[in-house]
This record gives sequence, C-alpha cells and structure tokens, in this order.
Amino acid sequence: MKILVTGGAGFIGSAVIRHIINNTQDSVVNLDKLTYAGNLENLLEVSDNPRYAFEQVDICNREELDRVLKQHQPNAVMHLAAESHVDRSIDGPAEFIQTNIVGTYTLLEATRSYWNNLSEKCKQAFRFHHISTDEVYGDLPHPDDDIDTVGRASARQASLKTDLQNEKLPLFTEQTAYEPSSPYSASKASSDHLVRAWLRTYGFPTLITNCSNNYGPYHFPEKLIPLVILNALEGKALPIYGKGDQIRDWLYVDDHAQALYLVATQGKIGETYNIGGHNEKQNIEVVETICEILDELRPLNNDAPSVGRANIEDVGRASARQDSLKADLQDLQSYKSLITYVTDRPGHDRRYAIDARKIEKELGWKPKETFETGLRKTVQWYLNNQQWCKNVQDGSYQRERLGVAK
Ligand SMILES: NC(=O)c1ccc[n+]([C@@H]2O[C@H](COP(=O)([O-])OP(=O)(O)OC[C@H]3O[C@@H](n4cnc5c(N)ncnc54)[C@H](O)[C@@H]3O)[C@@H](O)[C@H]2O)c1
Repeated sequence: MKILVTGGAGFIGSAVIRHIINNTQDSVVNLDKLTYAGNLENLLEVSDNPRYAFEQVDICNREELDRVLKQHQPNAVMHLAAESHVDRSIDGPAEFIQTNIVGTYTLLEATRSYWNNLSEKCKQAFRFHHISTDEVYGDLPHPDDDIDTVGRASARQASLKTDLQNEKLPLFTEQTAYEPSSPYSASKASSDHLVRAWLRTYGFPTLITNCSNNYGPYHFPEKLIPLVILNALEGKALPIYGKGDQIRDWLYVDDHAQALYLVATQGKIGETYNIGGHNEKQNIEVVETICEILDELRPLNNDAPSVGRANIEDVGRASARQDSLKADLQDLQSYKSLITYVTDRPGHDRRYAIDARKIEKELGWKPKETFETGLRKTVQWYLNNQQWCKNVQDGSYQRERLGVAK
C-alpha cells in the first residue's frame, strides 16, 4: 500500500510513519505544512528510506493537494493534520477553524475527486481514515462530583446521572453524543461531521477514530507531560491548572500508532472506533509520578547540573506561593517541591474516559504499555534527547502559559 499521511511531522503522525516504515512493507507520503508543531527531526530515523516521501503542503491548498494525489497515487489517506492545542485555541480560534474545518473539507473534496477517477477495483479498496479526539464528546461526571449537580445541564448529563446513581462512572462509547467544550474540540467535532456526511452523501469510504490523550517521545513541550519534565529539569515551576483533579485517560503514542494502522488497513468502512489506554489519572497524579521518576533517574542532590539556584529567580517571579517555593528551593529534596497551582483553564473539561472495547473485540487491539512503563520510557527519552527539546523551541514558544486570553 501507499498511504498519504497528513500531519506526519507532528507528534502522533511521526509515530505512525515510524511504525509503518519500520514494521510494514508499505510506502508513506508525508504531507505537512510544518507549522510550529511539525518537525522533520521527528522522522530522521526513516527519512532516508526509499518508501518515504515528504511534501510540504497546506491541507487548505486544493491545487497542491490535487498535484500530490495525482503524483503519488495513494491507496489510503490517514488524516492527522490539525491545530491540536486547546490553550492555543482559546487564544486564537481562527487557525483552528481554518485548518481543522476548512482544511478537512478541502482534503475531503480533493481526495473524493481523486477517488472518483480511480479504477473500480482501486475505488473499492480505497479508504480515508480521519483521526479525531475524545474531546468531541465533552466531559464526563467526575468521581468527586456532587450527584445532584450533575444532570442539570443536558439530557445526556441526566442519563449519566442515572449511571452515577448506580455507582457506575460512565465512559465515552462510539454512541456518545457530541458536546465539545473548547474551540479546539468544536473544530474537531465539525470535521468529524463533515467526514460522516461525505460517507453518507457521496459513498466516500471513510473511517473515524476518536482517541484519548497521548503521551510519549517527540511530544511538543507545550503539552502537560513534556512541559512538566522539561520545567522540572530546569528547576522551573510545574503549573497545575485549578486543583489538578481533572481526569484524562492516557495512551502511549506508539500504542496509538499501531491502533491507527490497524484501523486504516483492517477497519470496516463507515465505522468509528474509540481508542483509549484504560489509564484514568488525575493531572496531579501524572505530575507527581513524573517527579518520582525524575527523583529516581536524575536525583537532585547528586546529579542535577541544570537544576538549582540559577533558576530560582525564574520560579519566584509569579506569586506569593512561588516566593515561598523560592525559599524551599535552597534545599530541594524532590521535584515535587516545584508543583505550583495556577488559575484553571476556562471551560476546562473535568473527566475523559474511553470505552475501547469495540476496537479490542473487532480488531484485536490492546495497548501494550501500562501508564507506569510508558511514562518511565517517556521521561527517559526526554533525558536522552535534550537537544531535540532545544531545537523544537525556536524562540517563539518558551513554555509560557497559554489559553488565558479573554
Ligand atoms: N495529542 C493527542 O493527545 C491527541 C489525542 C487524540 C487525537 N489527536 C488528534 O491527532 C492528530 C495529531 O495530533 P498531534 O498531537 O500529533 O498534533 P501535533 O500538533 O503534534 O501535529 C499536527 C501536525 O499537523 C501539521 N499541520 C497543522 N496544520 C496543517 C495544515 N494546515 N496543513 C498541513 N499540515 C498541518 C503540523 O505541522 C504538525 O506536523 C490531530 O488531528 C489531533 O486532533 C491528538
């Protein structure tokens, strides 16, 4: 097969391409605009392979999409290109509407036109796999919620309340209604609707996957896990939004890449598959676990050249709480001392959790990593790849707080 992967220079797209080139005989065309989040360094281990090609193209550019499709003649498209950071979508939604909605529409139309001109046999075999997120479903009741306050917002919440009364915490299934909360998740929900409409209206062969939070190597350091690792290594504050009790279901990125390839090649046209890691964790637990792994792998009291007084001023600028931190830092025993609570994200979803039984039952996929093994691998990767971290932060982004613009 030849697979056109959009967004292949990003975090998940590059894991998908490394997986395909390293583990199959298929060829890949990576189509990516190379925004701040796209980095060809993520693909160094496969970029010399004759089965790999790169095209720097914006998915909103119809002419260029037509050219790439005609030139490379793919049998499948895996569509990952997107603006993907919720905080950025709060500061500037326009780019999210453009890429995630207009870009998906443009890609659907270009691919449909290409598909219409294929031979009947190639047409039958062709598939368009749209990669989406569990954030389109909105949020779920949290174990700490007051049962009486759940159920006021909507009919869906009311049915969730029944589950809660039966002492079951509900999960997102493929049937859960969409109720996105942020400009990011609303733009992804819109793109999912477009993809389903193209299937229903034009018979265009699509599949959709909705996945929980990914983590692992090559994750851009604006997202929680890499941000915490890198800030800790530099002795900077580890920001926790609100109380840090938001729950996410974490999936190691290579497990996701394997699931995506399986769906793209063996999934049933027209179906949706939810993908999750069965790892529900509160954000504060995630941050504390990273600190514990770092305390073990890079202990503060003997081998921490980049942590220490040089950065104390940096930590102590923001708040009174941080002023006291500044004092504590003089004899820091654990990275946990750097944890700092900051104002919550507006509209922050409380809990996500995926029911991944369908993909397990129908395609035999299960994640290989537990949260503990995956997180340890991730921390070790960031310790070993400090140069990558420096290279991807080009000066325009220095791990400052995003997503508080009104
Ligand atoms: N990261 C997660 O936890 C997660 C979870 C579920 C679903 N997803 C979805 O998976 C996909 C990939 O996520 P990610 O975390 O790898 O994102 P990312 O931000 O790391 O990468 C996005 C890639 O898309 C490219 N891109 C952006 N705009 C483009 C455009 N107009 N034309 C062509 N390329 C463009 C970027 O250059 C980058 O390489 C997204 O669709 C996202 O919604 C992500």
